[in-house]
Parts: sequence; C-alpha cells; structure tokens
Amino acid sequence: MGDGRGIETAAKSIAGDRLRALKHADGLVSAVLEVGGLSPEDAAALQARVRAAVETAPGVSAVRIVTTADRRPEPAAAKPAAPAPAAPRPDRVIAVASGKGGVGKSTVSANLAIALARIGRRAGLLDADIHGPSAPMLLGLTGRARLEAGLIAPLSAHGIAVLSMGLMADPGRAVAWRGPMASSAFKQMLDNADWSGIDTLVIDMPPGTGDITLTLAQQVKPDGVVIVSTPQDLALIDAERALNLFQELGTPILGFVENMASFRCPCCGTETRIFGEGGVERAAAELGLPVLARLPLDPALRAASDAGTPQPSGHFDALAHRVMERLEVLDEADVRR
Ligand SMILES: Nc1ncnc2c1ncn2[C@@H]1O[C@H](COP(=O)(O)OP(=O)(O)OP(=O)(O)O)[C@@H](O)[C@H]1O
Ligand SMILES: [Mg+2]
Repeated sequence: MGDGRGIETAAKSIAGDRLRALKHADGLVSAVLEVGGLSPEDAAALQARVRAAVETAPGVSAVRIVTTADRRPEPAAAKPAAPAPAAPRPDRVIAVASGKGGVGKSTVSANLAIALARIGRRAGLLDADIHGPSAPMLLGLTGRARLEAGLIAPLSAHGIAVLSMGLMADPGRAVAWRGPMASSAFKQMLDNADWSGIDTLVIDMPPGTGDITLTLAQQVKPDGVVIVSTPQDLALIDAERALNLFQELGTPILGFVENMASFRCPCCGTETRIFGEGGVERAAAELGLPVLARLPLDPALRAASDAGTPQPSGHFDALAHRVMERLEVLDEADVRR
C-alpha cells in the first residue's frame, strides 16, 4: 500500500466519490475531501477515517486533508432526533478496542470487568461485537436477557452484570444486520438497559474501525479506551489505525495492553517472545501512552475462556488498578485544562 495508487484505493474505499484528489510525494499525502451535506460531526469522522487508513501506510510520514463543501447541506429536519437515554449511564465507561481481530479484546474485557469487581467496583460488561458476540461463552452464560419495566435487564455472572447480542432473544438475526442497525443495537444495549447498579462499565469492541467504533467515539464518548495489541508489527499497525481514529475524534486513550507477549515453556521454564519484542512499548513511548499490562500467552487462560470459567488473576487485578489510576490522571488533566 506504500505506492500512491494503493493509498488512493484505501482512501477511496472509505470516502468513495467524496475523495476529490489525492497526491503522495516524499512521504506527504495530500487529500481533498468533499464534505458538503454532512453534519460537522460526520465530516470530522470521515476525515478521521481517511486519515487513519492512510497514515499507517508504509512510506507515509504526514497526511494533510483539506475539506471542501460543494453540496448543499441537507435540511436539519431530515435527521431523526436522537432518542433520550432511558437510564442513567454508569459513572465510568471504558472501551477495549484494537484494529485487528483475534488479539484478545474479549478476553481482556471480560477478565478486566471481573477484576474491577474484585477490587471493589460495581462492574459491568457490554459486548459491542454485535455480529460475533463472545461474552456468553467467555462467562459460561446461557440465559436470555429479559425486559423489565421497559429496560433490558443485564444478566449476572462472576460478580458482574453482562449484556451481549448473544444473550438476546434472537441473536441469530443480528448476523445479517448492516452497519447502522448494528450501531443502533449497540446503543440500545447501553441506553435502554438497566445499568443502574453499575458504576464501571467495560465495553468489548468488535475488531476494525467501522460504524460501531464511530458510534462509540461520537455518541457514547467513553471515559477512556484501552488498546489491545499483540507484539507483531501487523497487529500494531492495525492498533495504531484504531488509535489514530480515536485521537482524531477526541476519545481519551488510557494506554496499551500487550497481549500474548511471551510464553513460558511448561517443561523447562524458558520464556519465549513468540510474536516479537518491544513493538508495543516503542509505539506507546512514541505516543506518550503507558503500557497498562503485559499479558503472557497462557494456555490456562485460553482453556478457562473456552470453558466459560474465568479464574482470578494477578495480571488482571493489576490491570484493573492501572485502569482506575489512569482514569483519575485523565480527570486531573481535564480539570487543569
Ligand atoms: N493471553 C492469552 N493467552 C492465551 N490465549 C489467549 C490470550 N488472549 C486471548 N487468547 C485466546 O485467543 C483467542 C482470541 O481471543 P479473543 O476472542 O479475546 O480476541 P478478540 O480480539 O476479542 O477477537 P475478535 O476480534 O474476533 O473479537 C481466544 O481463543 C482466546 O482464548
Ligand atoms: Mg472479541
């Protein structure tokens, strides 16, 4: 994707005919985006997504995006009003994201929520992976969420409240949902559910930087995002893409979790860095972000996850403490601003 054409294809796949021009010279990509007819929020989101797609391409050192607005804005009345939240939202909302699939977001989310409960928070887990929910399996939940007084009642497992598409009456139907429907299901699980007993909610995000990620950043506005990455360069490139998108949209980043960082041989005790070393630390240092946890590749964690029987873990307790500390640091920075 390092050549100009590859970069243009990537940008076009996101912006379509709104991409009016794109030039790549000496590492600088200059693009013109037509944002007429879009709300300022949607225009900013489109710009952020194009930037995120282009920025991490090899050979690109800077991206300049100029926006134009030829098209007449759509009348405001054409937009449906956002429904008012039916229930108060939890005090703290933490999202767990990554650009790449399969790096351990769901494992980290579920175990982080349980660890938060262990350190005294009233914790919940919202599985925002509408098409591939994993919370029911990870937590060994087989029941179905019910409506109580017009609100969806989360289920309870391992000391936390849980909602997931996999706990809804007809989870199979969600598989065919397109972007906006999936985003609306996600919002309903947040706004139309009874999280009133919960003070700290962990949101397990789907992979990639699609509609649900945009809904999270623009509408849910979490207190912070934890970025999970394995040490490989490819996972890191995707993690940075997601991170760029969040930063562009003003979402606070709590830090990185390096997952599957090393493997200790059960026979000889030798520690092996299967997926490479130092990449996450380097990326975090460059961005001025902390590495919140370094989790080893642990066959017992995989087995417990598959069996729906999460086990207490010092790694996740430490992560829970770090996350709460980081939220306070961000609060203080906010107050000083
Ligand atoms: N530290 C670890 N040690 C061993 N296995 C792990 C670890 N972290 C995750 N796994 C395993 O890796 C697989 C993928 O993890 P998980 O489902 O949490 O990833 P994900 O990022 O949520 O994936 P998706 O993008 O599909 O939502 C699972 O089988 C899980 O048990
Ligand atoms: Mg997942």
